[in-house]
Amino acid sequence: MPGIVFDEIEAYIDGLANRGDPALRAVEDQGRKEEWPIVGAAEGSLLHILARSIRSKRILELGTAIGYSGTWLARALPPEGELVTVEWNPETAAIARRNFERTGVAKRVRIQVGSALDILPRLDGPFDLIFNDIDKQHYVEVLPHCIQKLRPGGLLVTDNVLWSGRVAKARRTKETEVIHEYNKRLAADPRFISVIVPLRDGVSIALRTSD
Ligand SMILES: C[S@@+](CC[C@H](N)C(=O)[O-])C[C@H]1O[C@@H](n2cnc3c(N)ncnc32)[C@H](O)[C@@H]1O
Repeated sequence: MPGIVFDEIEAYIDGLANRGDPALRAVEDQGRKEEWPIVGAAEGSLLHILARSIRSKRILELGTAIGYSGTWLARALPPEGELVTVEWNPETAAIARRNFERTGVAKRVRIQVGSALDILPRLDGPFDLIFNDIDKQHYVEVLPHCIQKLRPGGLLVTDNVLWSGRVAKARRTKETEVIHEYNKRLAADPRFISVIVPLRDGVSIALRTSD
């Protein structure tokens, strides 16, 4: 993925990022070696900081992959907390399950295997933080469900919202247009204060300020 900030700045941020313990580093290494699209150490840390800052007890993640960002999030929870994470590929979910065991968070994590669009309406809310990192073409469709499941004072965090900078171009592909529409809807929603942080591929952070 081409970066949205200068390579040397990205490398600088990554070089100083907290990488957690050896177990989490092993999942990061697996992600790199096997080319999984994981968020990386800096964004993982950001997710952890956000979740912990608002004292999250229930977190929802859409897009588990191998459980890298999920581990960062689960480690921000108190012992009785819960991370629900949704992954539609059962083989990928099995890898994540092993990694959650490896990183010591499995007891706090419930993996839901299936499409986020099918699972979301059936989930009991509210959640303190929702991290959206599924296929970009579904971003606009999942948005109302995410809003409905998020408590006031909660955070909706979304990955890849700058899509290598393509959202800012005048001509956009269908996929880019969906992300742009998602960003516009969140920015215009009076229930949220939102901002895009140009970290990695762009991270949107939206605070739900009212019902
Ligand atoms: C970008 S990766 C997630 C990376 C992960 N958040 C991390 O950083 O460790 C997206 C994952 O979501 C899954 N996925 C994509 N669209 C989905 C959908 N609509 N419902 C459920 N899972 C989906 C993919 O199979 C993939 O494993």
